[in-house]
Amino acid sequence: RTGILNIPVIVHVIYNNSQQNISDAQIQSQIDVLTEDFRKMNADVSLTPSEFAPLASDIEIEFSLAQITRKSSSKTSWGTNDAMKSSAQGGVDVVSPDEYLNIWVCNIGGGILGYAQFPGGPSSTDGVVISPQYFGSIDRQGAGENFYLSSPFDLGRTATHEVGHYLNLRHIWGDGNCNADDFVTDTPTAGGANYGCPSYPSKSCTNNGGYTSDMFMNYMDYVDDACMYMFSAGQKARMDAIFEPGGSRETL
Ligand code: ARG
Ligand code: ZN
Ligand code: CA
Repeated sequence: RTGILNIPVIVHVIYNNSQQNISDAQIQSQIDVLTEDFRKMNADVSLTPSEFAPLASDIEIEFSLAQITRKSSSKTSWGTNDAMKSSAQGGVDVVSPDEYLNIWVCNIGGGILGYAQFPGGPSSTDGVVISPQYFGSIDRQGAGENFYLSSPFDLGRTATHEVGHYLNLRHIWGDGNCNADDFVTDTPTAGGANYGCPSYPSKSCTNNGGYTSDMFMNYMDYVDDACMYMFSAGQKARMDAIFEPGGSRETL
């Protein structure tokens, strides 16, 4: 791939009350955060510790808002069984997933911020789901606007993380305990998820490839929105591969 890829986004808002029916401005704030984070234009990338700073990468993907759909529903929480992606189950059907990133914004419940489908899955459920109080950025709330967001997940990084999965990234700790891989060589092996806002250095595995710390500030960890601010070069290579001829997201 040469040059910047633009991914058009369709956002499906499914709401049970007026708060969940988030504003166009809140939706646009999320699209802006996605572009910023995937273009390494986020100001907080400057906080990256020096051992990781050379790895922090511009993914060269931008996002644009193509369409918003809105639907009222009597359902108060949707869980993670993909019902929100099916009109037969009260949700909204996916729109051309070979051309668009579909994002459903609805209350998942159970303390789950969002979830995503990896590339290569069924097209009828392709995309990302995020609860409305974690979709968008409070930093971009203008005068007279009232964004529905919940701290410390109010800076739009849930979507950055979930779109990372949608583009083939695994959790930084490989979902194991110093014994699992995220299939990215420049991310240190870790013993599990990090939470909150760890102080650097914070190292969970003795043999982690020679790094001083976990890369807990990576978008694919579980820290607070304000404490995650980079993708690595190895993660970029893994994402790039799916856009190659024959790759699972070649058509985007
Ligand atoms: N799938 C994760 C969850 O629902 C998302 C974590 C996002 N992290 C964040 N800081 N926004 O728990
Ligand atoms: Zn995740
Ligand atoms: Ca790794």
